[in-house]
Amino acid sequence: MRYETVKEDIVKILFTEKQIIDRITTIGKEITNEYKGRCPLVIGILKGAATYIELLAKKIDTHIEIDYMTFSSYGNSTKSSGNVKMIMDLDENIEGRDIIIVEDILDTGNTLYNLMHILKERNPKSIEVFTFLRKKDALQKPITPKWIGFDIENEFVVGYGFDFNQKYRNLDFIGVLNPKVYS
Ligand code: PRP
Repeated sequence: MRYETVKEDIVKILFTEKQIIDRITTIGKEITNEYKGRCPLVIGILKGAATYIELLAKKIDTHIEIDYMTFSSYGNSTKSSGNVKMIMDLDENIEGRDIIIVEDILDTGNTLYNLMHILKERNPKSIEVFTFLRKKDALQKPITPKWIGFDIENEFVVGYGFDFNQKYRNLDFIGVLNPKVYS
């Protein structure tokens, strides 16, 4: 969906499709160099990360495996609730594996903090985190992603996988949602 279709709902465009793909291409090369010959398990945290795992996986030029987990923290609000719930677990056994977690956004850090705790108990060889966006000022937990697409202000973003009430994920850019939509 294009900007023109929903322009009254969007305060500003933060990243165009080209900027998004260029950044993921760069990070894909870094991951390729680091993991050549190691076949990491790349774990996408649904639903938001679906877009990013698909893009990133194609830019990693060595073997990987892909699995998914689903957590929920926001419900139908624009603020992270802090109540993180695992809804769907992995299919794969991760003991002794190199793990790369793929997130769309790191906000308070509650989701990743809980997720890392669950995964570490399963004895993987290593765990690193990719997040496409990070709201640096919102972070409440000690989470340090190895790869970050972009740092953003503490604003509610939609598009390119990011939703409000499950809508706007299909925008072909990332933008800031007009508060009138949710107030
Ligand atoms: C979003 C996002 C992260 C999490 C980040 O998921 O995809 O998983 O919130 O927030 P936190 O750092 O404050 O925990 P959400 O629950 O909105 O589900 P979604 O991926 O289906 O959009």
